[in-house]
This record gives sequence, structure tokens and C-alpha cells, in this order.
Amino acid sequence: MTTKAVIGMIGAGNMGSAILAGIVKGHRVAVCEADAARGRRLKRQFPIELLDLPELCRRARVLILAVKPQVFEEVLTAIRPHVRKSHVVVSIAAGITTPYIEKRLPPGTRVIRTMPNLPAQVGRGVTGICAGKFATQADTNLARRLFASVGKAVTLDESLIDAVTAVSGSGPAYVFLFLEGWIKASTRLGLSEQLSREMVIETCAGALELLMESGEEASTLRERVTSKGGTTAAALQEFSAAKWEQTIYQAIKAARRRAKELSR
Ligand SMILES: NC(=O)c1ccc[n+]([C@@H]2O[C@H](COP(=O)([O-])OP(=O)(O)OC[C@H]3O[C@@H](n4cnc5c(N)ncnc54)[C@H](OP(=O)(O)O)[C@@H]3O)[C@@H](O)[C@H]2O)c1
Repeated sequence: MTTKAVIGMIGAGNMGSAILAGIVKGHRVAVCEADAARGRRLKRQFPIELLDLPELCRRARVLILAVKPQVFEEVLTAIRPHVRKSHVVVSIAAGITTPYIEKRLPPGTRVIRTMPNLPAQVGRGVTGICAGKFATQADTNLARRLFASVGKAVTLDESLIDAVTAVSGSGPAYVFLFLEGWIKASTRLGLSEQLSREMVIETCAGALELLMESGEEASTLRERVTSKGGTTAAALQEFSAAKWEQTIYQAIKAARRRAKELSR
């Protein structure tokens, strides 16, 4: 398989179009989209072909399934007669396992399951990738290259994908929640809403950039901001009293538990 193969995407909504924005830069892409107006919009935005399902399956070597889990079974039934040995089926659906997909497609179909996250929209996503029973190393590598076009892509065993869902899939929401609280707190101290927003977002972006560029541990940088008996120490003492670390752990465990419950 070469990267010049046509990549077919079935469903290109929020997540699909985010991924599309990255993969069109290096691949020929065809899209099958149920929402005709959305399809036309995508065609104006990206150099893609809009095809119906049979034609898309005929032309593409890779089929990215980017529809909601609720319609997933229906889509598998629709593509089943068109799936050939040369196809690699890549799913981005949360909670749908590779055995579930393999069971509904011709025997031996090569399946890759992924868990991307929303910052893929700005090319800063994190995607967990795992291989089904029949997928080859080349298939996994191809998926890695595709998702690397919208951020970081990591390969792991499917037994860890619920953890990935809890850590990076749901992760952006944890950051947004923290930022919301931080901005609100800032306005309560008398800073304007707009200034609070700017200061908090820039502080967060700056801290992240420093963390990534310095190569230092988060704990080292935290200690560098914290002098004994100072203002930061006073704030961190409150986080510690509220069992901050324990709360994060419990929250992420709850997300993983829910991912397992929803999985089929
Ligand atoms: N959003 C996230 O943060 C996130 C993160 C990780 C994984 N995911 C996964 O990404 C997948 C897509 O989520 P989303 O938020 O992008 O959903 P979405 O915005 O609803 O996009 C799905 C698109 O597929 C279209 N569609 C439905 N049935 C179709 C069919 N038979 N053939 C072709 N197109 C069809 C839908 O059209 P209609 O609207 O007309 O039905 C819609 O435009 C889900 O499985 C989700 O689990 C999402």
C-alpha cells in the first residue's frame, strides 16, 4: 500500500472534516456524505471528490468510517457487499471494537480502530490507533501517517483504547473546564471578562509552550514558579486541600469506566 492510494471517507461531520483538513494535504481523498449541503460545502473548501457509497468503495483503498456510533451498524451493512481484500477499514467511532466491525464485514477484513480528539481541528489532535486481528503493520503505519497529518498519532493495544478515550479523547473538556473556572475566578477578583479570558488563555498557552520547549518535567517547572511561603504556594495549598490529584484520577477513571460500558 502506498500513500498515493485514494482515501475514502464515509461521513464528514465535526470530526471527519477535521481529519479531512489534514489528510487532503498529502492524499487523494473521496468523501461520501449523507448531508448533501454539507458535502457541497466540503467540496468548495477542500480538493475532494464527492461520491456515492458503491463508487467510493470501488475507488478507495482505505475507508475511513467517520459516522456516529448510532448509525455505525447501518453503514457496515451498506459497505459490506463492496468491501474487498485490498481495503483497509479505519474507524474513528468511539466505543466500537474491532471484533464488532470484523464480524460485520467479509471474513479477514483488515480493520484499524482509532480514537482522535477535537484539537485535530487545528492540527493539534492526539489519536490512539490500534489494529484489528487481520490488519498488517503496513496498515497501522498508514493509519499513523494519516492521523499524524492532524497532530500526534500513537499506536497501542486495543485493551488500552478506553484509557486513551478517558485521557486524550475526553481530555480537551478537562482543560476547558479548568479554564472556565480560572476565568470566572479572575472576574471575581475584579478583572474584566475580556482581560480575564486573554490572561488565562495566554498564561495557559505560554505554560504549555514552555513545558514542551524546555523538555523539563511539569513538576520541575511548577517548583520554579513556587517560592516557599509565597503567593503560588498559597494557591497550591488550596488545590492540595481539595485533593486535586485524587479528583483528576477519579474523573479519568469514571471516563474509562463509561467508555467500557458504552463499548460494543
Ligand atoms: N467529536 C469528537 O470529539 C470525537 C472524538 C473522537 C471520536 N469521535 C467519533 O467521530 C465519529 C463522528 O462524530 P462527529 O461528531 O463527527 O459526527 P457528525 O458531526 O454527526 O458527523 C457524521 C456525518 O456523517 C453523516 N452520515 C450519517 N450517515 C451516513 C451515511 N450512511 N453515509 C454517509 N454519511 C453519513 C452525517 O450526516 P447527517 O447529519 O445527515 O446524518 C454527518 O454529516 C463518531 O463515531 C464519534 O464517536 C468524535
